[in-house]
Amino acid sequence: MADIILTGDRPTGRLHLGHLVGSLNQRVEMQNSGKYDQIFIEIADAQATTDNAGNIQKVKNNILELALDYMSCGIDPKKSTIFLQSEVPELSDLTFYYMNLVTLARLQRNPTVKQEIGYRGFKNSSIPVGFMTYPISQAADITAFNANIVPVGDDQLPMIEQTREIVRTFNRLYGETLVEPKAVLPENKICHRLPGTDGQAKMSKSIGNCIYLADTPEEVEKKVMGMFTDPNHLRVQDPGNTKNNPVFIYLEAFSKPKHFEKYFKNEETGELEYKNLDELKAHYERGGLGDMKIKRFLNYVIQDTLTPIRARRAELEKHIPEVYQALFEGSDKARKVAAETLLKVKRAIGLDYRSDYELINSQIEKYNQDLEEKKTRKY
Ligand code: TRP
Repeated sequence: MADIILTGDRPTGRLHLGHLVGSLNQRVEMQNSGKYDQIFIEIADAQATTDNAGNIQKVKNNILELALDYMSCGIDPKKSTIFLQSEVPELSDLTFYYMNLVTLARLQRNPTVKQEIGYRGFKNSSIPVGFMTYPISQAADITAFNANIVPVGDDQLPMIEQTREIVRTFNRLYGETLVEPKAVLPENKICHRLPGTDGQAKMSKSIGNCIYLADTPEEVEKKVMGMFTDPNHLRVQDPGNTKNNPVFIYLEAFSKPKHFEKYFKNEETGELEYKNLDELKAHYERGGLGDMKIKRFLNYVIQDTLTPIRARRAELEKHIPEVYQALFEGSDKARKVAAETLLKVKRAIGLDYRSDYELINSQIEKYNQDLEEKKTRKY
């Protein structure tokens, strides 16, 4: 079986460091490994409308931003098919038939959807039906491309589980047709969820605790220097906690041996003040290491991580028509694949009248018989 990857994001805001370690780096690695037959990356604009019906402009504006973020991180439209969900209407058709395979109760149990309802302040009386059913449309996104691998963050696991259930039900009712996918989480545990710069569990645009990929060096520095650390680490000599300390969590996610070699090297002796993160942590924990010093190091590490991304973005920003061109070409390619799957699905269900000669012939016969009957009927 071919190894086909599908993943995607809603275009509702710029991507941040959490996305970089949580998904983008892994996608680029997978893309460049050459191990996968096909990679589809969906800009899920239709899904984004499910809770933005009155704010389509936001979705529209962020399509380009998302594409620029993708490409500046190293996603290459020549190797990965980047496409717009709304450009592939076959996905809605698939969603329609999958809806019959899922109960309302099952949708209401989805823990991610429940959480999102909470974040959005929806009341029972104000949840759009489209929003409630987006996990089903996500199953269409995945199965349309015969994807067996879906690299996602752990918040998306309930969606993949829902997809697997739909695939199993479909194949049981209509015969083996759809591919059952599996989720792939980022390898590094710390990457599953990067906390906000304020120490909150999640980076969130509305709280303003994110470092964006497109932030300027000055913005990044300001955010890093203002980061939450250990609130009990009042004086430099106090022992500090590295566990729930976002500065150390970020260092865990982004620092590499080369950063220690460059930043902590004593010019005269050539010795490293700290050889690795464990040594830095140990010093902080026993006391005597100030927050400013680790924040300056973190700023250096993050700037080093973002510099090549910024440079690529600046280059791409000079070629906006080409970026859109790549999205439309990707969408055309995606649409062909989805159309093939839709045809297979309709055949499996039995809704392919145009090639269902058995059906049509039997009905011709049926009506011919009726004619015969009429001819011979006695009144
Ligand atoms: N739900 C995902 C998000 O919130 C976006 C998405 C849409 C997706 N379709 C997908 C992710 C299919 C993985 C697979 O960002």
